[in-house]
Amino acid sequence: PRKIIIDTDPGQDDAVAILLALASPEDFEVLGIVAVAGNVGLHHNATNARKIVELAGRPDIPVYAGCSRPMRRTLVTAEHVHGDTGLNGPDLPAPKIELQPQHGVDYIIETLMQAEPKTITLCTLGPLTNIGMALVKEPGIAERVAEIVLMGGAYFEVGNITPAAEFNIYVDPDAADIVFRSGVKLTVLPLDVTHQMQSTPARLNAFKALGNKSGQAVYEMLSFSEGFDLKKYGWEGAPLHDPTVMAYLIDPTIFEGRDCNVTIENASELTIGMTVTDYWHVTDKPKNATYIRSGNADRFFHLLTERLARLP
Ligand code: BDR
Ligand code: CA
Repeated sequence: PRKIIIDTDPGQDDAVAILLALASPEDFEVLGIVAVAGNVGLHHNATNARKIVELAGRPDIPVYAGCSRPMRRTLVTAEHVHGDTGLNGPDLPAPKIELQPQHGVDYIIETLMQAEPKTITLCTLGPLTNIGMALVKEPGIAERVAEIVLMGGAYFEVGNITPAAEFNIYVDPDAADIVFRSGVKLTVLPLDVTHQMQSTPARLNAFKALGNKSGQAVYEMLSFSEGFDLKKYGWEGAPLHDPTVMAYLIDPTIFEGRDCNVTIENASELTIGMTVTDYWHVTDKPKNATYIRSGNADRFFHLLTERLARLP
């Protein structure tokens, strides 16, 4: 199994991604989870991460709190999508496990610097603040991380928080810019692919029909968070974003994309946070990312449902 650190702002779809990772021990050894400010404030995200590991029956997974605001800009949150706690929907008990005392950024640096080079993958599901900060504080981590697989960005489907930008990149474009220039192997799961992964009523009911606590919680979470998106898009199901990161690592044949240059717009107010993607190779800019453009939704939901069945 691949050793991973999950950096996240849970968030209902983040929660489903964490559950997918914890349900897949043949694919992942989850070393730790680091919360970041994003969907809601850091305090809620860090609490929610602990609720999720307990739901999965994995209170042994250490949970850290990272940065409470972006590097330079004011924090923008999305309570209108995720609810005031960030994880509205299911009624999960308050977590019993404590947050780890170490700052999440220091945990990321220390873990990467102590491990054999290129043995740890970072899975990021929220704004890239913690990773950007870690790269500034200890640039040596760039050579030690195996790869970063992230949910963020949009090009063909453009924005969900502004007409030009996807939420995770928009919240901290400065951190994203550092990550995209870092030279680390990057794979990007943008809105272009997550908008194809729609949680239709039949797919949501399949989670509920699993008959376990986790399946029920996922059903309740996504039923809550999709309310906003269904009105916004008028689709039969809302996009399911963050679990695409884990699904890609489990079975990349579900997805299609190509290596190209992705540059982060972080100056213009009109398009700040845009992931400008040279998909058609019209420049000589270095190919710094694998940009995923599409995926097979039936295979994705099948994998997710099958794996969630293994949890309590
Ligand atoms: C991303 O923003 C958040 O609301 C979701 O959790 C996902 O990571 C989608 O734009
Ligand atoms: Ca997220």
